[in-house]
Amino acid sequence: RKILADELPEAQVIVVSNREPYIHNETRDGDVELVVPASGLVSALEPITRACAGTWIAYGGGSADRTVVDGNDRVQVPPGHPSYTLRRVWLSDDEYQGYYLGFANEGLWPLCHIAFTRPIFRESDWEAYEAVNRKFAETVVAEARNERPIVLVQDYHFALLPRMIRERLPEAIVITFWHIPWPNSEVFSICPWRERILDGLLGSSIVGFHTQFHANNFTESVDRFMESRIERADAAISYGGQVTLVHSYPISIEWPAELLKALPSVEECRLRVRKRFRIPAGAKLCVGVERLDYTKGILDRFHALEELFIRHPETVGNVVFLQIAAPSRGTLPAYKHLHEECVRCAEEINQRYGSESYRPVVMVAEHHSQAAVYELYRAADICLVTSLHDGMNLVAKEFVASRDDEQGVLLLSTFAGASRELLEALIVNPYDAAMMSEAMLQALTMGPDEQHERMRRMREIVRDNNVFRWAGSMLLDAARLRKRGDLDRVTA
Ligand code: G6P
Repeated sequence: RKILADELPEAQVIVVSNREPYIHNETRDGDVELVVPASGLVSALEPITRACAGTWIAYGGGSADRTVVDGNDRVQVPPGHPSYTLRRVWLSDDEYQGYYLGFANEGLWPLCHIAFTRPIFRESDWEAYEAVNRKFAETVVAEARNERPIVLVQDYHFALLPRMIRERLPEAIVITFWHIPWPNSEVFSICPWRERILDGLLGSSIVGFHTQFHANNFTESVDRFMESRIERADAAISYGGQVTLVHSYPISIEWPAELLKALPSVEECRLRVRKRFRIPAGAKLCVGVERLDYTKGILDRFHALEELFIRHPETVGNVVFLQIAAPSRGTLPAYKHLHEECVRCAEEINQRYGSESYRPVVMVAEHHSQAAVYELYRAADICLVTSLHDGMNLVAKEFVASRDDEQGVLLLSTFAGASRELLEALIVNPYDAAMMSEAMLQALTMGPDEQHERMRRMREIVRDNNVFRWAGSMLLDAARLRKRGDLDRVTA
């Protein structure tokens, strides 16, 4: 807020994402229930939009979204403490199918993640993607109070949007943040519309990634496919008479987490969770929390647990693995298949190693509120964040933030951006079941002093590099760009 007031006075902040921060769903009794989706993007952007009283434009996808305010597409949120405007964009079933399920989630999502799932590119999905990007561009223009808003475009759903905004509002600052990895240029070249995607993104003033590695991959892709000039020392790309900065800005979470204030002590959380999931006394509790997605490595985690039981039979009976998996994109075949496989694999392990009173794997494929998730983090002995590939992964940071008792062990994938910052986690390769099982054993037997030392250090990192710093450094770079542009105009 201070950066905005000092450096970008009177600038209006508009956030654009596919997911809305509060989904309005109709309950069985006909009431409206507000659900915060399982999305790292939403947990990061929500405190920022609250702090700068901006406008958030998103797809209104809840079952009660259209009716909640008499068909109005604007609503003030959060409920109870309204501090910003949520402007919903309605999409037809065909638009949703082609743009979101099709091009974004069957095309770009597997293209950008190393999870060995083949991307599917359909002409009709691309057309819907383009049409929906245009619809959002029109909404941005309609919401802009003047010619110079700051538009924060979020993620792979909107690769064409920056260019479309630039054409309509040439003086806007467009900061695009790509929340997922960017592949190397060889992989990227598979996409039939690669030049259009790069052209769209280069309409941005800044394109941000979580890691320098992904920023470099993006720059390499531009170098290979576009007529552009690249100033590597300044991390700047000149294309079509415009300059775009390409930087890494590691995303983070709110600190201190607002939610923590309302939560019971760690002891109380442990009692509640262990009772609810019937964890046998003496067994250590490992948790995994994510969307039910093939990039998250849930099956590999189950295999690692089995490997642990085979290599160290004394651990059978002494560890329970609780996997929370929030369903999303569930109508896509790859996601349906994953769900079935996870259930099958969990059952197999339970049959092989469990008993009447002991279920080694508890899998709950349901959405959980943020408060319930934080309660789990606080109850856990070990948290497993072992995704096959991830831009950042905020579950790792949330787990650390939740542990004000400075206990608990984090197992973290080397392929999650978070592993570049949380060096005191036990870093693992999720494809290597033997290595993962040994890291699990190390976590199970780690003493409280070592846990304390590692957790304390990780908490310092997350505290110092919180989400306000993430947004602040992008806004400072944007302010510099605007000043330079204004100066150039004066001297021209
Ligand atoms: C990832 C993406 C986000 C997305 C989230 C949830 O974190 O980067 O853009 O919102 O997953 O996925 P969903 O498809 O349910 O919105």
